[in-house]
Amino acid sequence: MATTAPERLPLSLSRTQREFVQDEHLYSLFLGGIGAGKSHAGAVKALAQEVIRPNTLGLVVAPTYPMLRDASWRTSLELWGPLIAEVVRSEMRVVFKNGSEAIFRTADDPERLRGPNMSWAWIDEAAICHPDTWKIVIGRLRQHGRAGRAWLTTTPKGMNWVYEVFVTRAGDDTAMFRAATRLNPFLSTDYVRSLTSQYEGEFAAQELEAEFISDQAGALMEWKWLEGARERPAHWAERGGEVVAGIDVAGPGEDETVVYVRQASRILEMRAFQDSDSRGPVLAMLQSWLHKGLKTINADSAGQGWYFVEHLKDSLPATIEVNGVNVGERPSTDEAAERNANLKAELYWALRERFRDGAVSGLTDPLTLSQLSGIRYGHDSRGRVKIESKDDASKRGDKSPDRAEALMLAFAPRLQDQMLATAWQGQAANVLTPDEMRMPWNAPSERPGAPWAAQSADKQSDWLGKATW
Ligand SMILES: Nc1ncnc2c1ncn2[C@@H]1O[C@H](COP(=O)(O)OP(=O)(O)OP(=O)(O)O)[C@@H](O)[C@H]1O
Ligand SMILES: [Mg+2]
Repeated sequence: MATTAPERLPLSLSRTQREFVQDEHLYSLFLGGIGAGKSHAGAVKALAQEVIRPNTLGLVVAPTYPMLRDASWRTSLELWGPLIAEVVRSEMRVVFKNGSEAIFRTADDPERLRGPNMSWAWIDEAAICHPDTWKIVIGRLRQHGRAGRAWLTTTPKGMNWVYEVFVTRAGDDTAMFRAATRLNPFLSTDYVRSLTSQYEGEFAAQELEAEFISDQAGALMEWKWLEGARERPAHWAERGGEVVAGIDVAGPGEDETVVYVRQASRILEMRAFQDSDSRGPVLAMLQSWLHKGLKTINADSAGQGWYFVEHLKDSLPATIEVNGVNVGERPSTDEAAERNANLKAELYWALRERFRDGAVSGLTDPLTLSQLSGIRYGHDSRGRVKIESKDDASKRGDKSPDRAEALMLAFAPRLQDQMLATAWQGQAANVLTPDEMRMPWNAPSERPGAPWAAQSADKQSDWLGKATW
């Protein structure tokens, strides 16, 4: 069967793209970092090896409709342009001048990919397609009674089915090509630099260097949990529950104050502030959530954070519960203290369980994902969970995980102030009359846990003024 050698196409390709496009294996994989030229290579391969044969039917698959429309479909139309006779947009179908056709489908329901026989198939971003996609697609590749070619273009996602097919079960039929983002000569250096600054550690190895990354010993989070949280979309909902913010306040030597806002399991907003005094901008951001159900704020109160928390308490309406949290302190209950070395371990463990149960969505920030993937845990001599110290982490090259901490605080299940408040309420109920309970200084929301005498004179007189005797 005559094929047009890609050298003769009026297209320039990077070296890896060229090798991939010319490769003749039945099944091939172009493993590339973000923007490494994967979609481009996939579309050119179709052109060079298949489309030029008459009366063939090809299938292009992408994980979701937006990915299909914005990447695979668009890239294909651009590159196939001169050979196209008709584009049937409503059916996502392309008819070529020689009578061949290509149809575009999403993999969100792999069963729907069953249908007529095909002569070739290209799966873009294959690693985030359901594993059944592969089996179903190669099952259809027998048009004209011969096994048809299939190729995958994707950024790796841990050691999932793509690894299984092309590494574990690699054989005479399979070939793999790998390209890092920085090796795509068609990207601007500024773009590459800005991408590189957003990724760290193993996550950078996966997303930019296109390496298959396995879960590291002692990693707090598993890859597939993080990927799940990244893929599930998240939106604010009118009756979606209370909105909670977590704030990691920049300490000495750290450059960002980070705020995460979530509603139930859904992450709605993340902002990182570089200002030397970020109180104003953070407050403005929080105020924008007040009318959308913001009820609770958990803010890091260690060091500088203490002033920050006081400022929030003074500036926000009294109905907002502002919890100062010092994660270096004791776990929240005696029971938790038996299992965790400190509050940080308790809260990170709770976060881990949430991710494991799939109860986090909308986590798209690459730096947060990088930081979460870098957190290690171990056990102390008493067998309690402890999170690797910042010093040890920085020895491994991981920077301070501010964004992960803010997220952890946003998802913190129960907090010190809150528990003191509950305890205070409990004690108060034993000794106070119902009338006294109504006194504002006895209300847990006012000053949880702190005795009357410990309040400032200003606050005392303010409360006395508000009391209805
Ligand atoms: N051979 C090439 N000639 C010209 N431009 C190219 C070539 N390969 C890639 N590019 C350009 O580089 C950019 C990234 O390419 P492409 O979209 O194919 O990468 P990708 O790896 O699929 O990216 P993503 O991770 O966003 O899906 C695009 O602007 C594309 O036009
Ligand atoms: Mg692409």
